[in-house]
Amino acid sequence: MYYASPVFAVLLLFTIYAVHKDIHSDNGCKMTYMWRWINLLPFEVEGNLISKYYLYRYVEGPLNERTLQILPNDIPVLFVPGSGGSAKQVRSMASIMMNKTEMRNAPFRMHFFAVDFAELILVGHSFGGTIVYSLPAHPEFDTSMMDLVITLAAPLSAPPIVMDKSMAEFYNSMDQIWHLQIDELKSTALVSYSGGEKDFQVPDHLAAITHSKTFNTYYV
Ligand SMILES: *[C@@H]1O[C@H](CO)[C@@H](O)[C@H](O)[C@H]1NC(C)=O
Repeated sequence: MYYASPVFAVLLLFTIYAVHKDIHSDNGCKMTYMWRWINLLPFEVEGNLISKYYLYRYVEGPLNERTLQILPNDIPVLFVPGSGGSAKQVRSMASIMMNKTEMRNAPFRMHFFAVDFAELILVGHSFGGTIVYSLPAHPEFDTSMMDLVITLAAPLSAPPIVMDKSMAEFYNSMDQIWHLQIDELKSTALVSYSGGEKDFQVPDHLAAITHSKTFNTYYV
């Protein structure tokens, strides 16, 4: 008993030091490569009211009938970048996914589309993942088109800063719609990745999904 407290103190200090070192170390990541050149082709969107917002289609290699063709079995993927991001950030995900499906002779191809907000800084509710998550709240949106939603460090449960009343209302309506449309959203899988302890802007609890019992939801 007599020796226990110094040992405990040393262990505690060591733990605090280890956590501190981990949190303040550099965020490591591995670079992804593509093996063909990139084309970001502007993709016409009917009814787009804001001319500086674009939708791009990501295509690798030569542009010909074969690379541009979209077959019924193929899977379209929409990438919505976050605040201050750009459509070009679709590259790392698209190149990896295209490479894997092609090298493994998958019976389908994936086609990537990316929204571009002209690198505007977008404030608050415009966070890419949160926008996708809010789509079912749009009266004209067909939820049956939504199979899988992947959000990356997106503040889904609450914004990092509540700027005004309309943002609070936006979050409320988004939350309600996922509860109300329980049947329509039954076949939609939602995966929310959070940045972990090193993401100070969107900490874990903001990226958490609050209704995980009712849907096919995964919080990673
Ligand atoms: C996929 O990546 C591998 C390396 O990991 C490369 O050798 C190969 O050429 C790539 N294939 C395509 C179709 O991009």
